[in-house]
Amino acid sequence: MRTEIYKIQRNDQTDNDPVILRAGQIIKEGGLVAFPTETVYGLGGDALNPEASGKIYSAKGRPSDNPLIVHIAEFSKLSYIVKSIPDIALKLYDAFCPGPLTMIFEKSDAVPYATTGGLDTVAVRMPNDALALSFIKASGGYIAAPSANISGRPSPTTAQHVYEDLNGRIEMILDGGPCTIGLESTIVDLTGPKPMILRPGYISLKMLSDVCGEVLVDPVILGTADPGAHPKAPGMKYRHYAPKGNLSIVSGPADNVCSYINDAITADHSAGKRVGVIAVGSDLKKYSGADFLGNAGDLDDEITISSSLYNLLRQCDDENIDTIYSEEFDTPMLGMAIMNRLMKAAGHTVIKV
Ligand code: TXA
Ligand code: MG
Repeated sequence: MRTEIYKIQRNDQTDNDPVILRAGQIIKEGGLVAFPTETVYGLGGDALNPEASGKIYSAKGRPSDNPLIVHIAEFSKLSYIVKSIPDIALKLYDAFCPGPLTMIFEKSDAVPYATTGGLDTVAVRMPNDALALSFIKASGGYIAAPSANISGRPSPTTAQHVYEDLNGRIEMILDGGPCTIGLESTIVDLTGPKPMILRPGYISLKMLSDVCGEVLVDPVILGTADPGAHPKAPGMKYRHYAPKGNLSIVSGPADNVCSYINDAITADHSAGKRVGVIAVGSDLKKYSGADFLGNAGDLDDEITISSSLYNLLRQCDDENIDTIYSEEFDTPMLGMAIMNRLMKAAGHTVIKV
């Protein structure tokens, strides 16, 4: 299959763009189109068509028990795909939608089990991106979309990343430039007695509890679960976002981190390895011996870190890096989401210094 790519401006003039209308037609015919959102690029198919969902799983090489998020562009579309809309969902919708928040509801019969990985619940999100919203409307209103990467690779934050992973496997890529947030949406489960975060993201625990009172966090994310417990979002159990090189997070006082990483660079070089370092911009000059220096941005501007992380992990692969050392980025708002992704990429290897 030939994958067409189109560059489109992400503004609010896209509803009648002929390329978007064609992308919508591809979806209605059961095909797949990758599109940008404010979090990461999504791999879209018709959420109400089980065959299209099946194609999404095969294009990504994704296990079929891992449910897909259904993306909508208008609130009026929600009631058709869920059994009921709890009051708390209305509050969260008013506060954060469109935006980087996914809510889990009991599903209606309209949503096929092929889309929900066999579950009786459905995850729903309205992205805050004019291009994505136009595309969803042009497609009939319900787009199932996981991140548009091959399973196990870092999620794509540019159309180029999508092309690297999915060229020849999908009909079209809509290229709207880089994603602003760069980490997947916060997932909050509304089907239990209290709302529970299943995946941390830009919408933080504090932001959610300011709107709806007590909010729980899946103990597996906090690292407080019993050994062997499974995360409640099936996708969180897989070792995602893994670079090919061996990634370790180095944690401790700044001077200790710096001297540990510099010693490791020397030792790894004498073992013939190529070494990468991921650090905030102001620290990079400390690690000048590394083969790859990844600029993770600025601790005072958290979004610079979230938006660069996946790109840096992909660059380590492009540069054939064997061992990667990363500083810790435990920032106030996005820190939980950033460290959740970095820990998974590192297979939870933390070196305390
Ligand atoms: O920001 C995002 O959410 C991006 C963009 C494209 O919208 N999408 C995304 O999708 O990250 P994906 O498929 O890569 O991650 C979806 C996560 C998985 O961990 C999956 O297990 C979980 O959501 N999930 C989906 N439906 C669920 C459900 N009904 N119950 C529990 N977890 C669910
Ligand atoms: Mg994903």
